[in-house]
Parts: sequence; C-alpha cells; structure tokens
Amino acid sequence: LIAALEQVDKTYIMVKPDGVQRGLVGEIISRFEKKGFKLIGLKLFQCSKELAEEHYKDLNQKPFFPKMINYITSGPVVSMAWEGIGVVPSARKLIGATDPLQAEPGTIRGDLAVQRGRNVIHGSDSPENGEREIVLATLLLTRKHQRATSEVLQS
Ligand code: TYD
Repeated sequence: LIAALEQVDKTYIMVKPDGVQRGLVGEIISRFEKKGFKLIGLKLFQCSKELAEEHYKDLNQKPFFPKMINYITSGPVVSMAWEGIGVVPSARKLIGATDPLQAEPGTIRGDLAVQRGRNVIHGSDSPENGEREIVLATLLLTRKHQRATSEVLQS
C-alpha cells in the first residue's frame, strides 16, 4: 500500500504564450521547484496546429476550441516534464481552477491571470495524460521519430 501511495508520476506542464510573453516562466518554474518536484525536461518552441489539436483533442467539439488553438499557437510556449510523488494532482492544485477569477489566491492562475482564455499554464489532469502529453510533444518535436508519431496519433 505504501509503495502504491508513493508512486512517482510525471506531468506535462506548459507555460502558454501569454505566460511566456509576460515573463512568468521563472516564477512558474520556481513554484514547482520550491514545492520539491523534479524538472526532467524543458523546451521552448512554437506549438504547431497539429500538436495543439492533438494535445486538446478531447475538447475539439467545444465552442471555444478554434479560439483556444489560435491562442496556443500564437507564440512560443515553454513545455516541461516534472516528476514526483503525486505530482499530477499536486500540480493541478498549484495551478488552480481553469477560470482565473475562480482560482484561489496563492495558485498560479489565482495570482497571475484574469481570463479563462489567457490562463497562463497547462497541467495534465491524470498520470495517463501526463505520459501521453509528454510523449506527444517529444515525438512531434523530433523529426527522426516521425513514424512513431503517426503511430501515436492513430492510437
Ligand atoms: P480544460 O481542460 O477544461 O481546463 P484546464 O486547463 O484547467 O485543465 O480546458 C482547457 C483549456 O481550454 C483551458 O485551460 C482554457 C480553455 N478554455 C476556454 O478558453 N474556455 C472555456 O470555457 C474552458 C472550459 C476552457
């Protein structure tokens, strides 16, 4: 039981274009570091439409989907993989509610954002999605793995 409780997971954290543009990358990294999680990967890149649409595929029927894809592809993002015990739910707590006006003070969105469509940061909602989102970003950014990518996209 203790082994199960102490399982080390990974989460995919992405500072969205507004967060990068506003100079919040250091502040956000600092909060995860101070909490005690381990940074195991980091990259600055412009998110392609292909990656954005695949990353958010569960939301592709939502009315806000096209606007969100435009926003997420509008400038560079900083993508990170963080590792630790309970990192997925803990990161979601550090991040706060989707709507920054509802997010508690002390959370990243609660302290640093106002609009739902400009909410600074993404964090995976389950360990399975953490793995999936890290693999997806990694594969789509690595040309030599293009075949593996098409397999992921079909699965
Ligand atoms: P969601 O996965 O529901 O939230 P979270 O990022 O907290 O896991 O939605 C993904 C993103 O979609 C969200 O961060 C911002 C955007 N979004 C909107 O622009 N409008 C909305 O009404 C919702 C629910 C989300």
